[in-house]
Amino acid sequence: MAPASASTAPLRVGIIGAGQISQGAANDFNGDARAQVVALADPSPERLNALADKAGIPKRFSTGEELIAADGIDAVYVAVPNKFHAPLAKAALEADKHVILDKPFALNLPEAQAVAAAAAASGRVLMLGMNQRFKPSSQIARARVRAGVFGEVYHAKACWRRRAGIPRIGSWFTQKAVSGGGGLLDIGVHMLDLALYVLDNFKPLSVSGAAYTKLGNQGLGSGGWGMSEIDPNAVFDVDDFATALIKLEGGVSLCLDASWALHQPEPNYDDLHLFGTAAGGSANSGEIYRFGAAGGYEILQGLPAGDLATVSGNRFSNFIGACLGEHEPEVTVAQALAVQAIIDAIYASSNNGRDVEISF
Ligand SMILES: NC(=O)c1ccc[n+]([C@@H]2O[C@H](COP(=O)([O-])OP(=O)(O)OC[C@H]3O[C@@H](n4cnc5c(N)ncnc54)[C@H](O)[C@@H]3O)[C@@H](O)[C@H]2O)c1
Repeated sequence: MAPASASTAPLRVGIIGAGQISQGAANDFNGDARAQVVALADPSPERLNALADKAGIPKRFSTGEELIAADGIDAVYVAVPNKFHAPLAKAALEADKHVILDKPFALNLPEAQAVAAAAAASGRVLMLGMNQRFKPSSQIARARVRAGVFGEVYHAKACWRRRAGIPRIGSWFTQKAVSGGGGLLDIGVHMLDLALYVLDNFKPLSVSGAAYTKLGNQGLGSGGWGMSEIDPNAVFDVDDFATALIKLEGGVSLCLDASWALHQPEPNYDDLHLFGTAAGGSANSGEIYRFGAAGGYEILQGLPAGDLATVSGNRFSNFIGACLGEHEPEVTVAQALAVQAIIDAIYASSNNGRDVEISF
């Protein structure tokens, strides 16, 4: 979609969901001179009023639907349990609002495609909140791939493995009917998106995946994330570990690991490793591994990014700029659909025990 004509008017933002992620989001929006949070919605009066008071948000609603129907809102940030992502994003687009939807896109690809169709029909910005892309280290890794520093990158390993980082057992995160999935949908989606973005390859061909529910269902591995209520009787029925081999167009392979809970030495490990014909590298550390000119092997640390072009800001500043017609959104709808298609395929492959081909 071509951006709307550039405007200097502040973007009037409504936030749906007053939970943990919205605490920082409200600050990010209000800290940007181009935007102002004018409305907030949450069914919990305590969380609604606490955040609205703290962030100075005047309009308050108990449902997202009321916020979407209200006047004086240009853009909506949807930050609610995953089950409500697609319906609220679609309703907001149909009401001619720009939408930034936090991850994951939806519970499944058909839901995501319905939101994408609403975005296309409305001509408004739809952007997924993929924050890992905006880390300076991610931008440098992507620029190095584009500059040919690694040669032909033929393999990558993306992982986010927490040892005991389930977002509070018994919250909506651990109930499949509301979340749609566990660690894969919650943090695997970040590393999958980052890998495809750095590789600049959103063309999946096939997936072999496995997802496990082994620790959370024993009550093990709870972490601290999330502000929503706990249901002590809820059954933990989502993945606490998932792994996949994803084949991309051009002969590129990608291994993905995502765990909320897993026996491992580190409390947390996340990185994207790249393997190319000229060098390998770690996106997080910026290290580059390659054969040196004198025949030895060198590990280069902390190489300056030099004049490699990078995207600055975060997901919210990028979204604001896109809504105001300053640039295209850094996360495109087509990319987000490809990520959702791969996640669906990982769960499908795990369920049926076979490779799954992707064509969409
Ligand atoms: N980008 C990231 O790094 C990141 C990090 C954490 C969470 N998230 C995403 O943000 C979303 C929210 O996560 P969270 O950690 O803030 O969860 P949370 O449990 O802390 O808060 C969710 C809030 O949504 C409210 N809510 C529930 N149903 C609603 C509805 N229909 N309409 C309006 N509000 C509703 C709840 O009352 C609660 O206040 C999730 O989709 C999650 O995946 C993204």
